Amino acid sequence: MNYQLNKPPGKVKLSFFWQFLRHEKLPMFVALSAILISSLFQLAAPTVMGHALDTYILVGDESGLLKIALQLLVLFVGSFVASYIQTIAMGGVGQRLLFNLRNAIFTKVDSMPMAFFNQNKAGDLISRINNDTEKLNQFFSEAIMRFVGNAFMIAGAGISLVAIDVRLGVVALLPAAALLIIAKASGGYIKRKNAASLQTTGNFSAAVQENLENFKVMIVFNRQDYFRERLAGVNEDNYQATKQSELANSAFTPLYTFMGQAAQLIAITYGISLVLSGSLTIGLLISFLTYITRFYDPLRQVASFWGSLQAALSAGDRIQHLLTLPTYMTVTADAHTHENLGLVSFKDVTFAYPDGKTVLSDINLTLEPGKTYAFVGPTGGGKTTSASLIARLYDPTEGTVYLSGRDIRSYTDAERAQKIGFILQDPFLLQGTIRENILYGNTRFDHLSDTELMDELARLGLSELVTRFENGLKTEVGSVGGTASAGQKQIVAFIRAILRAPELLILDEATANIDTVTEKLLDQALEALPKATAKVIIAHRLNTIANADEIFFVNGGEITPAGSLEHAMDMLLHKARQS
Ligand SMILES: Nc1ncnc2c1ncn2[C@@H]1O[C@H](COP(=O)(O)OP(=O)(O)OP(=O)(O)O)[C@@H](O)[C@H]1O
Ligand SMILES: [Mg+2]
Repeated sequence: MNYQLNKPPGKVKLSFFWQFLRHEKLPMFVALSAILISSLFQLAAPTVMGHALDTYILVGDESGLLKIALQLLVLFVGSFVASYIQTIAMGGVGQRLLFNLRNAIFTKVDSMPMAFFNQNKAGDLISRINNDTEKLNQFFSEAIMRFVGNAFMIAGAGISLVAIDVRLGVVALLPAAALLIIAKASGGYIKRKNAASLQTTGNFSAAVQENLENFKVMIVFNRQDYFRERLAGVNEDNYQATKQSELANSAFTPLYTFMGQAAQLIAITYGISLVLSGSLTIGLLISFLTYITRFYDPLRQVASFWGSLQAALSAGDRIQHLLTLPTYMTVTADAHTHENLGLVSFKDVTFAYPDGKTVLSDINLTLEPGKTYAFVGPTGGGKTTSASLIARLYDPTEGTVYLSGRDIRSYTDAERAQKIGFILQDPFLLQGTIRENILYGNTRFDHLSDTELMDELARLGLSELVTRFENGLKTEVGSVGGTASAGQKQIVAFIRAILRAPELLILDEATANIDTVTEKLLDQALEALPKATAKVIIAHRLNTIANADEIFFVNGGEITPAGSLEHAMDMLLHKARQS
C-alpha cells in the first residue's frame, strides 16, 4: 500500500504524454510544416545575398540589384507569413493539453483510496496539478516547436556551411562539437536541479496549505511565529533550489555566444586567406559568415530550450508518477457467495497502517443483519480502523472481509456505498444547502420538492432534526466559509446516511457533539430504520450503547466480545488502571 509520491525522479518518457495530444495532430502538422517553410525561406536568403554580391555588386552591375531586392523581399515576407500560420495553428494546443492533463490528474486523484491521501500532502498534489502541468504545457506548446524550427535551421545552415567549402565548414563546426559534448555531460545535473526545484515548490505549497488549514490552532496558541518560521524555512529551500535550477538552466548560454563568435573568428581568418589564394569568392565568404550566425543563434536558443526541456522532464516525471500509480484497491473478479457469513464477516483479518504498528491482528468476527453492535475501547484502540475496514476504506493487510457472504473486494464502489452508510467521526459538509448536503449523491429523492422531501423525512422520523436549522432545507451550510457547528454537521451527516437506506449503518462517535435532547431524536430515527438494518455504534459515552445486542471491546489488536455493558465497563476501567 505504498502510495508515496515523494521520491527521486525516475525515467520519464515524454512519449507518455502523447496520449494527451493525440487529437492535436492536424494543428501540429500544420504548425510543423509552416515552421519548416519559414526556416527554408530564412536559409535561402544568405545564398541569394552572396550570389548578388558576386554577380552584380562586385562587377558594378546595378540593374541586378532590384531583382535581388525583390527576391529577398519575397523570402522575408514568405518567412513572416509561415511563422504567422504556425502561431495561429499552435494557439490553443497548449491550453488543451493543460486542460486534458489536469482533468486526467484530477480523475486519477479522485479514484485513489484513503491510504493515498494519508501518505501525500494536499499541497504537493495541488502543486502537481497547477505548476507541473504548466511546465509541461510550456514545453509542448512553445519549446518543442521552437526546437523543431531551430533544429531544422541548424541542420540547413550546417549543410550550407559544408557545401560552400568543406574545409572551412568543418573548421567552423568544431566549436559546435565542443558544445554538444558539454550539453550531453551536463544534462543529468541540470535535470536533478530542476527536479529539486519542483519538489521544494510542492513542499512550499504543502506548508502553505497546512498553515491555512490550522490557522485556528495558530491563533489560539499565539504561535504565528512558529508557523512563520516553518514557512520561511520551506520558502528559503524553494528559493535556493529554484535559483540553482535557473542558474543551471542558463549557465551555458554565454558559452554558446562565445563559441559562435569563435566560429566567426576562425571563419574570417581562414576564409580571407582562402579568398586571397583565389579558392573562394567574397560573396561566398559573406554567405558563409551569415550561415554561421544562422547556425549558432538557433544553437543558443536550443541551449535555453535545454533548460526548459529538463524542467519539463522533471515535471513530466512527477505527473507521470502520479498518473501511473497503481491502485491496489481494485475490484476483484471473484464474486462467489459463501453461506453463513452474516452481513459482515472478518476472516483472519490483520491490519497495519503503512509504517505503523499492527492495529488489528487475526480478527474473526461476524455481524448479522438487523442487529445493533457497539464497539467500545480506549482512545487509539482501533475502533475507527475496524469500521474503515468494514466500509473498505482500506484493505486488510492479511485475511478477508466479507459483505453479504461475498469478498468485499468484489463489490464496485457504488454497490458498496449503497449497502454501507458510514457517519464519520469528523463529517464534512459541502458548500451548499441542507437539502443538497443530505441528498449528496442520492438520486432516490432528487426529484422531490422541498415539501415532499419534508414529508418523507417526517416518515423516517428525521423532520424535527431539519427544522432545527433556521431555514430548514434551505439553510446554507458548508466547509468553506460555512457556519455549521460540529453537532449540526453530525446531524446532517446522520440524515444523509439514513436517507440512503443502507443495510449496515456505522456511527463513529456520531453523537459525540450532540445534546441529549437531540440525541433522543437521533435514537428514534435509528429505531425507525427497517428491521433488517444492522448498526455498528462506536461511542465513548456508554449510555448511547445501552440497547446494543452485542458489545465488542476493541484494543491491543483484538476485538473481544464483552458480553454485557457492565463487563465492557470493567474492561475499560481495567485498561485505564493498567496505563
Ligand atoms: N491514517 C493513519 N495512519 C497511521 N496510523 C493511524 C492512522 N489512523 C489511525 N492510526 C493509528 O491506528 C491506531 C488506531 O486508531 P483508530 O483511529 O482506529 O482508534 P480509535 O479506537 O478510533 O480511537 P478514538 O477513540 O480516539 O477515535 C492508533 O494508534 C492510531 O494512531
Ligand atoms: Mg476513532
